[in-house]
Amino acid sequence: MSIKQILDNNEKWVADRKAADPEFFNRLADGQKPKYLFIGCSDSRVPASAITGTGPGEMFVHRNIANMVVHTDFNMLSVLQYAVEVLGVEDILVVGHYGCGGVAAAAANKQYGLIDNWLTNIRDVIRVHEREFLRIKNEDERLRRLVELNVIEQVRNLAKTNIIQNARKTSKPPRLHGLVYDIKEGLLRDLQLNDEIGDLDHIYGTEAMKYAEEVFEEQPGFNPQADKGKRVSESEVMAAGSKDKEHKPHLQKTS
Ligand code: CO
Repeated sequence: MSIKQILDNNEKWVADRKAADPEFFNRLADGQKPKYLFIGCSDSRVPASAITGTGPGEMFVHRNIANMVVHTDFNMLSVLQYAVEVLGVEDILVVGHYGCGGVAAAAANKQYGLIDNWLTNIRDVIRVHEREFLRIKNEDERLRRLVELNVIEQVRNLAKTNIIQNARKTSKPPRLHGLVYDIKEGLLRDLQLNDEIGDLDHIYGTEAMKYAEEVFEEQPGFNPQADKGKRVSESEVMAAGSKDKEHKPHLQKTS
């Protein structure tokens, strides 16, 4: 398709829109109040508007290779802050897709150049889920699962940002969703992550010590003030947990 064709398509689109709704463009020019933030892959087969049935003004969009939420990415962080704090989006969708080239590249035993530094963030997902990942023998299935695990970890990464942590202290924090798009079928699937997202609040909400003190308060000889910053060993956690059958592991919020 030539650039001429693209411009012709645009003119036809404007004419069609105006015919259906003469005020369409005037309304959009007044400003935007989208309800959704879409964080998806740059892959040309995953167009945000088309697969979600949303039109102009309805969805704020950020796309990069493999739909990543990287905490040093000022582009993503700026989009997120604007979407949450200024636009007040109600739902944030991290949308991965099966057949993602970025995810496949991260799992391949190869170097690709500069992009390896980006793919490292997906290799971190492999590290966190290494046991599950390596147990899947079929390569296709393994990559499909990695796409899902990557979405899960990127939703978690969203929850770790101070932007979302602060929003969670307000009366209407945005809901976070992890979805996977199947290019072959055209269908979006919700990974239903709602229950897992809050698990990290006490750590990334900078209240980890408060909960550590709760865990250790019954343990004689342990002084959380004096031991602040010291790494908590697994045996210490087990010792604290065994005192009370109801006691939750230290990495879960207790209230
Ligand atoms: Co992709």
